[in-house]
Amino acid sequence: MTLAARLLRTKPTERIVTEGGQGEGGELRRTMTLWQLTLFSVGATLGTGIFVILGQAVPKAGPAVVLAFVLAAITALFSALSYAELAGTIPVSGSSYSYAYATLGELVAWVCGWCLMLEYAVSVAAVAVGWGEYLNAFLRSLFGWTLPAAITHSPGQDGGVVNVTAILIVLLATWLLLYGASESAMANAVFVLIKIAVLVFFCAVAFTAFEAGNFTPFAPLGVAGITAAASQVFFSYIGFDAASTAGEEARNPKRDLPLAILLSLAIVTTVYVLVAVAAIGAKPWTEFDPESSEASLSQIVDQATGATWPGLIVSFGAVIAIASVVLTVIYGQTRILFAMSRDGLIPRVFQRVNPRHQVPVANTLIVALFISVLAGLVPRGQLAEATSIGTLFAFFIVNVGVLVLRYRSPELPRSFRTPLFPLTPVLGALFCVIVMAGLAGVTWAAFGLWMLLGLICYFLYGYGHSRLNAEVR
Ligand code: ALA
Repeated sequence: MTLAARLLRTKPTERIVTEGGQGEGGELRRTMTLWQLTLFSVGATLGTGIFVILGQAVPKAGPAVVLAFVLAAITALFSALSYAELAGTIPVSGSSYSYAYATLGELVAWVCGWCLMLEYAVSVAAVAVGWGEYLNAFLRSLFGWTLPAAITHSPGQDGGVVNVTAILIVLLATWLLLYGASESAMANAVFVLIKIAVLVFFCAVAFTAFEAGNFTPFAPLGVAGITAAASQVFFSYIGFDAASTAGEEARNPKRDLPLAILLSLAIVTTVYVLVAVAAIGAKPWTEFDPESSEASLSQIVDQATGATWPGLIVSFGAVIAIASVVLTVIYGQTRILFAMSRDGLIPRVFQRVNPRHQVPVANTLIVALFISVLAGLVPRGQLAEATSIGTLFAFFIVNVGVLVLRYRSPELPRSFRTPLFPLTPVLGALFCVIVMAGLAGVTWAAFGLWMLLGLICYFLYGYGHSRLNAEVR
């Protein structure tokens, strides 16, 4: 077999599906229902984006930040439709990595899996880094004191030494994940209900101080301002695809995965738009600080009521929100590695399933260690930038994957078909390219280095160990 043929070989869709759930030493348990899957995706999505980035995006677009959220949602929607189609056709744990393996070949699948580490492991480190700030905001409102900067900030940032709080939240999430997928899904469901309730509370309080005049002029910074804000708030939609990593633990994956992905996007978009409208209605856009940190939503409710307890509730919501992002995204990362390991592209230890808890224990511990080191030592800004580019690249591959699979295997049973084919995946891919093109040169350079490292790993290990090697020579 030539080198090119080896790199382009695909894994038959039927085989990917029949292998689903099986690991070394045991199988994953099919326990997750539609609503647990939906809350899983909402859990991974609704977090820092709305609690912090909203406040930072308002000065860019003015009241039209509401449109920026809609624009970012439309961008996400095209890719979500493609995810829904592929998740219903190939309902396994590897998300876009597995879809790429079935459609675009082993090398692209590897590249995609490598990008997903940016979307999952690196993003969760970024989110965990911020958790200490929320915890401090909460403690400050409750007791009037905070944890020392040395243990709540990254080294070199505002007196930080090691971000112990970031490591703590990663370890707590890991502990829960080791209990079992179903237990983690239950805990996540509770967290998600709390964070949605807190945001509904925010809207109810903020609407009491609503001033329609705050919306004129609506777009003081023009279209450019709206698109700039949309690129920034796109981060808040990352994660809707998390349900696609639970394909092998879902009870009825073919029916439920597409629904969960689309439902979660609908839920978070509704929440985001409502929160944005309420926030602008309660506080003139010119008073938002682009450098604002965790407390922007808390300040709004405190100002609206003249009391401090509403802000306390909102910062509690943020603490819980971030915890559920950390939990679900670590879960997603472990399941993607599980699928890659089963294909032989990374060492076998990642597919070993503990027979008692039916979870990949060693895999989860290795992922937790990697994320803890990143979260404890690297500042958030650097981590967050890497996340978007990796995510968009994975989304791009999924859109192309839908096109390829429809033309190559039109007969495959699909539980969901993206409407207006081929327009939707084409637009989905195009939007990804546009948003990626807008990212900074230094982010691209970092991405290039990351990819180079990935290719070195592939040729040193995956290329020689791929399970497809045993079949075709
Ligand atoms: N969408 C996730 C968040 O906003 C990453 O925290």
